[in-house]
Amino acid sequence: MTGKLPTSASVLAPGEGAKLHAPAAERNGEVLCDLLCRHAPRRGQALEIASGTGQHVVQFARALPGLTWQPTEIDAERRASIDAYGAEAALPNLLPAVPLDASQAGWHKRHGAQSLIVLVNLLHLISTPQARVLIEEAVHALAPEGRFVLYGPFMRAGQLTSAGDLRFHAQLAEADPAIGYKNDADIREWLLGAGVREVVGIEMPANNLAFVASR
Ligand SMILES: C[S@@+](CC[C@H](N)C(=O)[O-])C[C@H]1O[C@@H](n2cnc3c(N)ncnc32)[C@H](O)[C@@H]1O
Repeated sequence: MTGKLPTSASVLAPGEGAKLHAPAAERNGEVLCDLLCRHAPRRGQALEIASGTGQHVVQFARALPGLTWQPTEIDAERRASIDAYGAEAALPNLLPAVPLDASQAGWHKRHGAQSLIVLVNLLHLISTPQARVLIEEAVHALAPEGRFVLYGPFMRAGQLTSAGDLRFHAQLAEADPAIGYKNDADIREWLLGAGVREVVGIEMPANNLAFVASR
């Protein structure tokens, strides 16, 4: 992420103590838990990229207790928020947040053998070269048979498909012409090129898409 983002890209409010509150994370938490419960392996290590406030990872760790969850975040204030939610939830399968810039090459060596990697709402906020590095690294960080679940707003066949998506993409591109919505076919191509054997696309509420990529 470049720092040049419209305010609509990540709406946050202060919460109690170090906790931050993202209304979007509150809205889509249940839908994401349902998605993961249908497609995630039941045991092993799970890594979340760009955990944001930490609202999601607490729900994920509750919904999938056989996975040990490692939240990660580039931003220190958000890592403190993740840890505040984590301390409150006191779940045995949720680890403290660690720093990760997922668009930097090489991180798979520090975070290998993941049964599951989850990425929610980041790819539209970074450039295409950064998104390609992130996908390559995530696929290399998967264990054999591991799964990478991506969720967010995407173009379909090169088209923005709702008035809200047209508006949001235009705001992103105005703030930084290098960022904005990525195309569904490109995501598939990058995932398959990085070494997954199968990619399933799933239509999600609010015109979002999920991809479940299996190694
Ligand atoms: C729109 S928020 C989504 C947060 C969370 N996944 C959610 O859905 O609530 C985007 C997040 O990506 C993080 N981020 C931005 N660039 C990143 C990068 N290069 N690597 C990892 N995280 C990044 C931001 O700090 C922010 O928390």
